[in-house]
Amino acid sequence: MDNKKRDVQYKYNKTAEHYDLRYKNIQNNKIDFFLYMLKRSGIRFKFYTILDIGCGTLTSYEKLNKYFQKTSHYIGIDFSIEMLKYGLSHNINKNFDIKLPSVILADAENLPLKNEVADLVISLTVAQNLPDLTAHLKSILNIIKKNSSIILISFHKSFFSLNEIKSTLMKFSNIDFDYFDVDDIEDYLFVIKFN
Ligand SMILES: C[S@@+](CC[C@H](N)C(=O)[O-])C[C@H]1O[C@@H](n2cnc3c(N)ncnc32)[C@H](O)[C@@H]1O
Repeated sequence: MDNKKRDVQYKYNKTAEHYDLRYKNIQNNKIDFFLYMLKRSGIRFKFYTILDIGCGTLTSYEKLNKYFQKTSHYIGIDFSIEMLKYGLSHNINKNFDIKLPSVILADAENLPLKNEVADLVISLTVAQNLPDLTAHLKSILNIIKKNSSIILISFHKSFFSLNEIKSTLMKFSNIDFDYFDVDDIEDYLFVIKFN
């Protein structure tokens, strides 16, 4: 792992306890917007294997698990052990959650997963920490199944321009995407599907 990445990991480990207080509502707004868009476009939330890359404190799991099928399996992946630990002890109601999450401590740039395992990939506000956007998208496209699966991904507006993201995505010939630039949401939100 290079020094820059180690610094990012250190920062998230150090601040994990304060993350939810500062960012949970902000991140929840992004998920809410995605859910609203999926509902509006008639996509039912019937995914089986859900991978959340850079899941942090599992805020997406907490928000989404009520939509899961009995057969859904959420897997959160993050390289910050403290973010995962905080999420597992604070954002899961073990009494009521039907389907408990799995978590993997791993680097998003080196995912320990086979190709085409996920029906839904989520990655919220993670890409700014990774050096190569094309490589990040390529690894997501490798792990997702190629029919009726979708990717919900967001990019912080202070780190990316809309044009940069769009032109990177256009390099991939087998996908379609919709994007949303909402005033009070600090990320560009992309829904990516296969054509
Ligand atoms: C801004 S937080 C977003 C967390 C979560 N997606 C959310 O919506 O609350 C960024 C997360 O990405 C993780 N992350 C950054 N670089 C990573 C990498 N190379 N591999 C795995 N996780 C990474 C951090 O540890 C942190 O939990």
